[in-house]
Amino acid sequence: MISQENSTGRPLADSAWLDNHHKAKIPERTAVAKRLSHLHPNSILDLGCATGLWLELLNNYIPKECEFIGIDSDEESLYLAQKRSKSWDRKVTLMHLNLEEDLKQIPPSDLTLAFNIFPYIKDLTSFVEALSLKNPKGALAVRQYDGASIRFGPMPTFERQNIEVDLRMATESSNKFHHYDLDRTFDVLKKSHYKNKHFEFELFERSSPFPKDFIPYYNGMIERTCQHISDKSAEYLRKWMNEDQTMTNRYFYEVDLIALLS
Ligand SMILES: C[S@@+](CC[C@H](N)C(=O)[O-])C[C@H]1O[C@@H](n2cnc3c(N)ncnc32)[C@H](O)[C@@H]1O
Repeated sequence: MISQENSTGRPLADSAWLDNHHKAKIPERTAVAKRLSHLHPNSILDLGCATGLWLELLNNYIPKECEFIGIDSDEESLYLAQKRSKSWDRKVTLMHLNLEEDLKQIPPSDLTLAFNIFPYIKDLTSFVEALSLKNPKGALAVRQYDGASIRFGPMPTFERQNIEVDLRMATESSNKFHHYDLDRTFDVLKKSHYKNKHFEFELFERSSPFPKDFIPYYNGMIERTCQHISDKSAEYLRKWMNEDQTMTNRYFYEVDLIALLS
């Protein structure tokens, strides 16, 4: 059983999972880092920075005068982020905080990153409102995946829909996070008090032959799905994987909500 939970029990947040996810998406994430560098922030605050992977990437594209601040409630992840940050030639502050409980201690910054962190926040409206008041001139960059916009194939629609329903039943009732959070995020951001709101949807896609760096993420995603669905659907999915062990006739895509507010 692979848990994909970090040491504080946050799902989809253990360091190996985040590493695989990051490596699979390096080309797309590099493009994001370059785009963010055009905002010329003097400080970047990464909410739920985990092991510091995004900050490490940004370190390559953002001038060293810009301060990096990372916040996470998981000490083990912060320890890894701390180790990573040692080679960065800039001011770096890593804070062990619970974003909801310690809301007042979140510092203001020019650019705040909320990358796949909202699913863990219960009262998202109040949280976004509080962020917008921290620095009225600051920007908020959001990236949000959704369990319903991840697809692998080809497979019969009937089988896929069985898997999707099983997965939704298993994860929707979780009180640990919202696996289906794109619509809540969109809604809250649209109604927020930020003046400028820009929304996009970003496609991440790979078709076989898969690049080497993508395969651990892909396999992890399939294995995680197998663990959360009914025995019958899991049996189908494992058989489907085994039918094409060399992965010659496979595709994968997911769509993330991207927002920039200021
Ligand atoms: C899915 S990971 C996202 C990591 C990174 N932002 C990314 O996009 O790769 C979520 C991170 O948020 C942290 N987290 C979740 N809820 C939190 C909270 N209430 N306060 C602080 N950190 C939290 C978890 O510990 C985990 O490291």
